[in-house]
Amino acid sequence: MGSEDVYNAIIHKVDRSGTGDVRKKMRILSGMRSTGRLHLGNYITLEKWKELQDAGNDCFYFVADWHALTSHKESVSDFELWTLEIVKTYLSCGLDPNRTVIFVQSAIKEHAELFLLLSNLVSVSRLQRMPTYKEQKDEMSDRDLSSAGFMLYPVLQAADVLMYRAQGVPIGEDQVYHIELTREIARRFNTVFDEVFPEPEPILSKFPKLPGTDGRKMSKSYDNFILVENDANSLWKKLAPMVTDPARKRRNDPGDPEKCPVWDYHKAFTIEQDQQNWVVDGCKQALIGCLDCKRLLFDNLEKRLNPVWERMSSYRECNDTVRKTIEEGNEKARLSAQETMKMVKSAMSTRW
Ligand code: TRP
Ligand code: SF4
Repeated sequence: MGSEDVYNAIIHKVDRSGTGDVRKKMRILSGMRSTGRLHLGNYITLEKWKELQDAGNDCFYFVADWHALTSHKESVSDFELWTLEIVKTYLSCGLDPNRTVIFVQSAIKEHAELFLLLSNLVSVSRLQRMPTYKEQKDEMSDRDLSSAGFMLYPVLQAADVLMYRAQGVPIGEDQVYHIELTREIARRFNTVFDEVFPEPEPILSKFPKLPGTDGRKMSKSYDNFILVENDANSLWKKLAPMVTDPARKRRNDPGDPEKCPVWDYHKAFTIEQDQQNWVVDGCKQALIGCLDCKRLLFDNLEKRLNPVWERMSSYRECNDTVRKTIEEGNEKARLSAQETMKMVKSAMSTRW
């Protein structure tokens, strides 16, 4: 099954027997690292998370603060604040703590325990050959990624997923290797010991990764991202100077949307086909200016984000309420984690 099919299977469980909609609940899990406030790329992911929640699945969404440690140890004192802000964004984007378990990785110590056990089921050379391992080392050459912790990053991720016996993991393209490794580890565990873990499927986003406002990869070090929590004013300040197709120096120069990061944002945020056509034709035939094009994007983004902004500001003075929500989520996650750890230990015939 391709990831699109898996996604459709999860979103629309079709009842082939004809007795009505028998939406079977799937266990879904995903997380974001606490390396800062969330941007529009994260927002698209959150829409997907919400869609899976609203389709009636059994969702676990968390903040991966131990994962953030691998590359951002010097900022660890900010993690608590960032985690709080990230959970506020989760809630503002419509994740509902009454239906979905929202929690923080470091609060569930079982993740560390399972991580330790699973690390015995994977070879060092397999980890060193992970494409993400090499890529990140090259990309983040300004950071010290020589630690064993960084090499073991995907094993911790496997522990996150397997801890909740997740069947579906919504992720970006770049994380597919990690889910592949998670499946291998699950198979390994199930054969060496006893059948405990389902093999999780990646659920990929339909949209390609959003580029930064300068057309390069979105990155903290380039300051080229748009935060979800921006208001209309700062949103326009980010959009107006955005890089466009360099061929369109003047308004009468025709351009190619495929060479323009603004178009990538339209693909994600401009839903109406008519409007998309207006952009493509207008750009190629030089009928519109780049500012007109950005203005449309701005309008669509503003419409989409307005309710999120409203909720974000209503949480501004509510740190204690949000902390309580996190506590309650942690409690639910912990129960589920403890249940898995019991199964794990019984499969391994240990009394730890
Ligand atoms: N590695 C993921 C990322 O960088 C974050 C993550 C940690 C995660 N644990 C996870 C995602 C478990 C899905 C499932 O985006
Ligand atoms: Fe980019 Fe739009 Fe300008 Fe075309 S018209 S180059 S898509 S901003």
